[in-house]
Amino acid sequence: MSRKIGIVGGTGPEGSGLAARWAAAGEHIIIGSRDASRAAETAKLLRARLGSNAKIEGADNASAVAQCEVDVLTVPFSAQAALLKQLKPHWKPGHILIDTTVPLAAAVGGAPSRMLSVWQGSAAQQARELVPTSVPVAAAFHNLSAELLAQDGPVDCDILVCSDDDEAKRVASELAEKIPGARALNGGKLENARIVESITALLIGLNVRYKVHTGGIRFTGLPVK
Ligand SMILES: NC(=O)c1ccc[n+]([C@@H]2O[C@H](COP(=O)([O-])OP(=O)(O)OC[C@H]3O[C@@H](n4cnc5c(N)ncnc54)[C@H](OP(=O)(O)O)[C@@H]3O)[C@@H](O)[C@H]2O)c1
Repeated sequence: MSRKIGIVGGTGPEGSGLAARWAAAGEHIIIGSRDASRAAETAKLLRARLGSNAKIEGADNASAVAQCEVDVLTVPFSAQAALLKQLKPHWKPGHILIDTTVPLAAAVGGAPSRMLSVWQGSAAQQARELVPTSVPVAAAFHNLSAELLAQDGPVDCDILVCSDDDEAKRVASELAEKIPGARALNGGKLENARIVESITALLIGLNVRYKVHTGGIRFTGLPVK
């Protein structure tokens, strides 16, 4: 397998959790950061955990985008727009962006169980506006807790994947199903990311009320893979 997956903002818990799961499944991962040495340190820690066969390296965010066919954005909503504007020159046609960003009110000092209103409708639609039109965007992994990713064993949840592009949706779904216990569901068009992102705020509230950090979602009555 020759493709590389870049995790922009991959030094945080969500990005490094996804990186670890995908590296364990044999994917070649480039952790991205504003600081290449921080990315290298995260990559080193993940290799130490997963074993020396794990293909995980670190790079600055721009290099991660430039060298990877698929990039997953895992930064806080407050950082999303500025970072994507900065990265715009580094995308090439055929690249795919998978956005995990949730516009939680916490990004501007509010409650993490409330959503910010985004002019475009969702963080994913804002991302769509900020990368070249030749780069398809999928929205996924919003409802997958970093704490669950960090644990060993299957995650036991559904991953809703939204996109207007069939290939981006296929790649995001394939990556979701590389995480043991995850089932990818076709969430429809990118505009549905508005609904999926807001489920995260609901999950955070449930986590608080039930004193866990691992809440997720499962849909019933659909074909089981
Ligand atoms: N945590 C979860 O359970 C979870 C679950 C589902 C979805 N999400 C979503 O996934 C995204 C990442 O979550 P997280 O908890 O991993 O976030 P985080 O720890 O707050 O941030 C992730 C990384 O983003 C980079 N970053 C922070 N501020 C930045 C800025 N101003 N400009 C550029 N980069 C910046 C940092 O990397 P460097 O300092 O190395 O550049 C940081 O390590 C969020 O949008 C969140 O809503 C999180």
